[in-house]
Amino acid sequence: MITAVDVIRTKRDGGELSTAQIDWVIDAYTKGVVADEQMSALAMAIFLNGARPREIADWTAAMIRSGITLDLSAVGKPCVDKHSTGGVGDKITLPLAPLVAVFDVAVPQLSGRGLGHTGGTLDKLESIPGFQVDMTEAQVIEQLKDIGAVICAATGDLAPADKKLYALRDITSTVEAIPLIASSIMCKKIAEGADAIVLDVKVGSGAFMKDFAQARELAETMVRLGGDHGVDTRALLTDMSIPLGRTAGNALEVRESVEVLAGGGPEDVVELTVALAKEMLAAAGKPDADPAAALNDGRAMDAWRKMITAQGGEVDAPLPVAREFEEIKADADGFIAEMDAYAVGVAAWRLGAGRERQGQPVQFGAGIEILKTVGEPVKAGETVFRLHTDTPERFAAAKETLAGEWTIGAEPSKRGPIILDRVTA
Ligand code: URA
Repeated sequence: MITAVDVIRTKRDGGELSTAQIDWVIDAYTKGVVADEQMSALAMAIFLNGARPREIADWTAAMIRSGITLDLSAVGKPCVDKHSTGGVGDKITLPLAPLVAVFDVAVPQLSGRGLGHTGGTLDKLESIPGFQVDMTEAQVIEQLKDIGAVICAATGDLAPADKKLYALRDITSTVEAIPLIASSIMCKKIAEGADAIVLDVKVGSGAFMKDFAQARELAETMVRLGGDHGVDTRALLTDMSIPLGRTAGNALEVRESVEVLAGGGPEDVVELTVALAKEMLAAAGKPDADPAAALNDGRAMDAWRKMITAQGGEVDAPLPVAREFEEIKADADGFIAEMDAYAVGVAAWRLGAGRERQGQPVQFGAGIEILKTVGEPVKAGETVFRLHTDTPERFAAAKETLAGEWTIGAEPSKRGPIILDRVTA
């Protein structure tokens, strides 16, 4: 007979869990037979002692089996999904899904809400008046057939074991373990039924993985898990040491995404959107498609307008604007030398763009505009950050968070590359 105490002891002592032990513990935890205290201990044992590739594969498979899996075969076109491990100012899903849909590839983006310093795609889209994130499986399939892109909430029936475990990891400081992150992300993505998955694994202060070697290990683990389940999985490792683009915060990020869809927008956001689109299109068997052209000639914007309208959004309605703003200005001439992504994320969160606890509302207009970013010249008195909030008592905490986290240098500086590496099977 398998017991939770035996499973915990095996991992605590650095042993390897059998397939039967893993299947049992995930099933029993989902049903409430294994208590949160026991699962916390097991998560900490995995955090400290790691897990072997076979254990991670079994853990992922057991979490997939804890719930339903979507069958997207009725869509009738290749279905490719993208997942980012999360970063500051990462709004790429918004322009990317309609962009890839232009090429007759279906993009089912089942997304989440933000927690902590990284924003959630659903929160961003909900800042568009009327936009609905709750859809049935039948509605998702219909929209994929008609328009090709859907961005909606993942149903609680997909990988319920992960939903419970992720919430537990969040309050037991066991999130940042590669076996647990890789299985958590991939069980949901595989259960979503896509033919291929493209991963954007972030590296740097604003990401889970602060260093390159860890991020690469995470990417390799996820690519292998996808392959185990017959899903073509590839990953880009991308820089998250400075914020992506020039905005962090829900409606501010939607505005920037629309600029990208109109053929403009910040260079780094465009570069990453196009690079991920190329990976997705190659995985869908369309390596010669030219996504940059579809951003410039309005086709991606047309697909965006159709997607937003199909989900009830008023595509031409003004986006929410925060009631108050304050600016942080440069105190010297020079060049922006550094800007810490994590600090910008925390400051945006403190302004009201994010939530502290699940279920809290967010302020749609809150966040940060970055008027001068790394590498750009600046003069004393020019605005570097514009902070937005509905609750001005939050300005002080946001300013305190940013203090000392960006610097001006005398010499011209250059931001490093966005795309650091690529991992394929
Ligand atoms: N995102 C997830 O879905 N799971 C993790 O463990 C980390 C990030």
